[in-house]
Amino acid sequence: MQCVLTPDTEGYDQIDSIATGASVLVEGIIASSQGGKQKVELKVSKIIVIGESDPTSFPIQKKRASREFLRTVAHLRPRTNTFGAVARVRNALAYATHKFFQDNGFVWVASPIITASDCEGAGEQFYVTTLISNSAEGGSLVKDIPSTKDGRVDWSQDFFCKPAFLTVSGQLNGETYATALSDIYTFGPTFRAENSNTSRHLAEFWMIEPELAFADLNDDMACASSYLQYVVKYILENCKEDMDFFNTWIEKGIIDRLNDVVEKNFVHLSYSDAIELLVGSKKKFEFPVKWGLDLQSEHERYITEVAFGGRPVIIRDYPKEIKAFYMRQNDDGKTVAAMDLLVPRVGELIGGSQREERLDYLEGRLDELNLNKESYWWYLDLRRYGSVPHAGFGLGFERLVQFATGMDNIRDTIPFPRVPGSAEF
Ligand code: 4AD
Ligand code: MG
Repeated sequence: MQCVLTPDTEGYDQIDSIATGASVLVEGIIASSQGGKQKVELKVSKIIVIGESDPTSFPIQKKRASREFLRTVAHLRPRTNTFGAVARVRNALAYATHKFFQDNGFVWVASPIITASDCEGAGEQFYVTTLISNSAEGGSLVKDIPSTKDGRVDWSQDFFCKPAFLTVSGQLNGETYATALSDIYTFGPTFRAENSNTSRHLAEFWMIEPELAFADLNDDMACASSYLQYVVKYILENCKEDMDFFNTWIEKGIIDRLNDVVEKNFVHLSYSDAIELLVGSKKKFEFPVKWGLDLQSEHERYITEVAFGGRPVIIRDYPKEIKAFYMRQNDDGKTVAAMDLLVPRVGELIGGSQREERLDYLEGRLDELNLNKESYWWYLDLRRYGSVPHAGFGLGFERLVQFATGMDNIRDTIPFPRVPGSAEF
C-alpha cells in the first residue's frame, strides 16, 4: 500500500523514526493513485508508530534480496511480497484439497506421525526415542544406551518398547480405514531421513494420500488427474493477484502453463514405452537407461518437458524390483500396477499404485524382500478379512506448491524447511 503523507498529517513529526520493518497504524482515505505502480493509495490523515525497527540491523532492506539469503532469515521472510504470495497460494491449495475430497465423499483420516512400520521399506526413517534424553543429564553418552547381550540397542527399554520412527507415509494406516469406510484421504506431515540436497527434497514435507476402495489403477489415475486439475483451477480462479505476481516475477508464462494443465488431457505411457522413448532419444543422459532401472529426475524431466512439451505425464506398470512391497503384481509377473505422475520442472509429483489385495501374493513379496511378516500382521489382516481391490496415491504438497507458483526451490514453498544440516527456526 502506498501511503501519502503531508506535513499536515497528524504524527508527521514521527516519520524519522519509521524505517523498513517498522509497524505503524495509519488512518486516511483511499484514493485512486496518480502513480503507475498501483491502482489506489492511502491519503494519510494520521500516523502512529507502533513498533520501531532498527534501520542499522533489520536484515531485509528494500532492494531485492536473494532467496538463499532470505532462507537465513526465515522468521522475517514472510514479510516479503514473494513469501506472502507463496503462503496465500499454499493456503488456497490446502483448502482446495480438502474441498475436492470432501465434495467427492472422501473421509479425512488422521494417520499417526509416530509409527513402528516402514511403509516404503527404504529405511529412510528418523528414530523416535527417549533412550538418549532419559539416560543422562545434559546429553547422553553412548555407553548409557541399554544394550542386549550381543551388543545391539535394547529397544525393549525404550519408550515404546520397540524401535519407533517418524512416519514416511500414512498409507498403510489409510488402507485400514479405506477397507472400512470406503474412500478416505490423509493430509499431514511426513518425514524422510534421506540425505538428498536437491531443490525437490525436504526432510519434513506434507503429503496428501487418498485411498480408494473397490478401485483399480485406472480409477487411481483418474482420481489423481481430476484432483490436480481441480486444485490448479481453484488457484487460477481464486488467487488471481498472486498468480499475476508469479507470472511477472517468478516464472513468465506460468498462467498459460497451468491453464493447459486444466484444459488438456494428461499423457499416459507405460514404463516400457518410456524406456523405449528415452533409449531412442538423441539426448545424452548422465544415468543409464535400461529396462529394470529406475527413472532418474533427468529422465523424468526429459519426458515431460521435451518429449511431451510440458504436459503432465503418467507412467504406469513399473518393474516390481524397483517399487514397494505393497504394489499389486501384474499378470506378466514382472511389473506392478504402479503409477507416477510427472510434471515439468518438478519431476515426480505423485506416486501411487493399486495395492496387492491377495494375501498369498503379499506374503510372498514380503518374504522375497526379507521383510518381517510378523510386524505387518495388522496390514495382512486387511487381506485376511474381507479383502477388497483398492488403490491410492501420495502427492508431495510442497512439490505441488512449487509447480503452482513456479518457485525454483522446494525450500521456499514451506515456511520453515528442514533439510540435511539445517533445522533452524
Ligand atoms: O513416491 P512416494 O515415496 O510414495 C509413497 O510414500 C506412497 N506411500 C504414497 C501412496 O501411495 N499413498 O512419495 C509420494 C510423493 C512423491 O511423489 C513426492 O511428490 C513426495 O511424496 N515426496 C517428497 N516431497 C518432498 N521431499 C521429499 N523428500 C519427498 N519424498 C517424496
Ligand atoms: Mg515415488
